[in-house]
Amino acid sequence: MERIHVTVRARPLSPEDEKTSPWRISGNSIFIPNHSTKFEFDQIFGEECKTINVYQARTKDIVQAAVRGFNGTVFAYGQTNSGKTHTMRGSGTEPGVIPLAVHDLFQIIQQDVDREFLLRMSYMEIYNEEINDLLVPEHRKLQIHESLERGIYVAGLREEIVASPEQVLDLMQFGESRRHIGETNMNLYSSRSHTIFRMIIESRDRSEDEDSCTSCDAVRVSVLNLVDLAGSERAAKTGAEGVRLKEGSHINKSLMTLGTVIKKLSEGAESQGGHVPYRDSKLTRILQPALGGNANTAIICNITLAQIHADETKSSLQFASRALRVTNCARVNEILTDAALLKRQKKEIEELRAKLQGSHSEHLGEEILNLRNTLLQTELERERIALELEEEKKTQAEWQKRVQRAGQKNRKFEFNGVVFK
Ligand SMILES: Nc1ncnc2c1ncn2[C@@H]1O[C@H](COP(=O)(O)OP(=O)(O)OP(=O)(O)O)[C@@H](O)[C@H]1O
Ligand SMILES: [Mg+2]
Repeated sequence: MERIHVTVRARPLSPEDEKTSPWRISGNSIFIPNHSTKFEFDQIFGEECKTINVYQARTKDIVQAAVRGFNGTVFAYGQTNSGKTHTMRGSGTEPGVIPLAVHDLFQIIQQDVDREFLLRMSYMEIYNEEINDLLVPEHRKLQIHESLERGIYVAGLREEIVASPEQVLDLMQFGESRRHIGETNMNLYSSRSHTIFRMIIESRDRSEDEDSCTSCDAVRVSVLNLVDLAGSERAAKTGAEGVRLKEGSHINKSLMTLGTVIKKLSEGAESQGGHVPYRDSKLTRILQPALGGNANTAIICNITLAQIHADETKSSLQFASRALRVTNCARVNEILTDAALLKRQKKEIEELRAKLQGSHSEHLGEEILNLRNTLLQTELERERIALELEEEKKTQAEWQKRVQRAGQKNRKFEFNGVVFK
């Protein structure tokens, strides 16, 4: 079980705001002196920090694990103008978490000589509760589906095969130019949609030695989501009207659902079989596996220490502290082809036989006793199924005989308590 890793990043302040800021940071704590408000996180970065430091705090590990087959999700959370897009996308002078992750990903893959990789990327936005494909502008209002093989997925979302970091970043820039951005009183380039940048990493063993490998033909597929959320906002501060107001209300609503989902998860709702309202927003539904399931997850909580935004900062920190109590269970995602499954079973049986032969009856290990037990159970199960099949065949034969007789005599008959004419 892994807990969600939470990093806090405070954006730079104007000299004026700096003088009047009520917040203090000490190590991994942030607090208002002489006030009950105090929070602790995995790491807190002050305004002088660089994005690379934030990236190295946890995202780097998540990227490395994604190459090994573990799903990973990192998202930037915080009020408008707190530096989420600056952190995730970066600027001309400072690369963000996404380009840093992309470069790392390709580097790790190139160094892994034992496996071959296939990488795909997708880029989507959730704007006013509609999912748009940022790589294919005409793919709009996409739907979320769920299936046994694919889990939760966005139908029709383009997954572009990519071969270099430059290709990924070019596609990202193309998508970025289609993202909904708008001016508000608080941010000249305010994100009006949540974006999910996704890398799908598929790999298989290069080994050609059929007998020695246990994982050949097994394909690992993992998904790395890097999410730049739109920021929560107060219309009174952003001056939002008309379209901006409508956008703001959708943004706040989905962030509220995210807050409720995190709250429920932090209270252990999922493990206790309680209801977690993932379906109340597209964002939480798409991120469901990352929030309450099979993924390594990290949150970068962007804040401002300015006095004027103390309430919003407190509320962001409350969200982030709840997230600290959420645990996930990440595992390697492996798909076995039939051939791989057979090969693996054959090897397992051989190992079992060798183990059984090598052990003397007087000191059979508990493990071997268990194995014998399992074998016995399987045999019994097979016998039971065979008997059921026999029974079924007899019943069918009996049924056919009666139908025939009834047909000859042209009268009704009864079978298993039901009357047929
Ligand atoms: N750590 C930082 N260092 C330098 N500039 C920053 C930093 N954080 C934010 N900024 C600047 O502040 C402005 C607002 O940041 P940004 O757009 O990233 O906020 P946001 O949280 O994404 O807001 P919104 O929710 O409205 O999209 C930008 O001009 C950005 O360059
Ligand atoms: Mg933004």
